Amino acid sequence: LKIFVLYGGKSPEHEVSLRTAFTVLGSIDRRKHDVYPVYITRDGLWCCEGLLDRRPDRIEDLALQPEARSAAHTLGTVLIRWISEAGGQAVVLPLLHGANGEDGTVQGLCELLGVAYVGNGVLSAAITLDKEVSKRLLKQAGIEQAEYRCIRLEDWRQRAVRLMEEVESEIGFPCYVKPASLGSSIGISRCEDAIQLRQGIETAFQYDSKLVIEEEIDGREIQVAVMGNERPLASLPGEFIHRSRFFDFESKYLDKELVMSVPAAVPPEVTERVRVTALKAYGLHECSGLARVDFFLNKEGRLFLNEINAFPGFTGTSMYPVMWERTDGTAYGELIEKLMDYALT
Ligand code: DAL
Ligand code: MG
Repeated sequence: LKIFVLYGGKSPEHEVSLRTAFTVLGSIDRRKHDVYPVYITRDGLWCCEGLLDRRPDRIEDLALQPEARSAAHTLGTVLIRWISEAGGQAVVLPLLHGANGEDGTVQGLCELLGVAYVGNGVLSAAITLDKEVSKRLLKQAGIEQAEYRCIRLEDWRQRAVRLMEEVESEIGFPCYVKPASLGSSIGISRCEDAIQLRQGIETAFQYDSKLVIEEEIDGREIQVAVMGNERPLASLPGEFIHRSRFFDFESKYLDKELVMSVPAAVPPEVTERVRVTALKAYGLHECSGLARVDFFLNKEGRLFLNEINAFPGFTGTSMYPVMWERTDGTAYGELIEKLMDYALT
């Protein structure tokens, strides 16, 4: 099997993708498969030659050098090569987080090329990456989530004062301002008053033209891994235990005291509810392949769905692979094989 591993990419989650790729590339059995790493630079250049077999964390510096850039192929050239080289026996592994990769764009490209790819299809990738559209679906299905409201840039430009008042009365403080289509907490602010709210909104608009503003749920961070196509399976839930109130980019990726507890220490009834709700949300978003569903569990035992991630972080210490390992013993490399099998069936 020829495996095209796409990583890096134009989204602000570029670094996270490099970490994911580093672990995935190291775990694929190269005696079994032909692996073609395709590094996508921050400005969208697809490099698939000359940079192979380098550690993904060093590729970035390398890609900036003029000789490497001249060796890099343009998107069109890469695609033509794929088709001619791969025949039917190929699968694309889009290890991309956020826009231009986790959002249906790369998936659409694979569809047009007729190449199999791991993970969600065009529709599910697009709707899970848009927190506002996803929330509408969850609301319609009666799945509990934080109170929220959406603000669009055109509207903000015309009536910021009124919108601020509405958010204060409908959502209140503390609240979270989130760009609609980003992951890893990038561009998100926790706001305790009107001044912070205005700043938070301005910050989030630097990343996206649509925002969601949510009430704060004081609760534990519970996540569950889902995998499969027609009959998906849910893992045991895991929990992130961290010191900071707001689980921001730093605490997600740089906090050495971050504790991952898998399975989460919750009563069996909660485990069941988490799994059932995660599977319901997976179906509701037309997911296939995989997704990680994130929740808050408050002191009264109420479960709030936070979001679905179409391509969750996949480093050696990421929640998704660890949850599977602790659920049914699936090792990291085996998990990648399973996901490729789902892509090819
Ligand atoms: N968006 C990051 C990669 C995650 O959900 O794990
Ligand atoms: Mg996310």
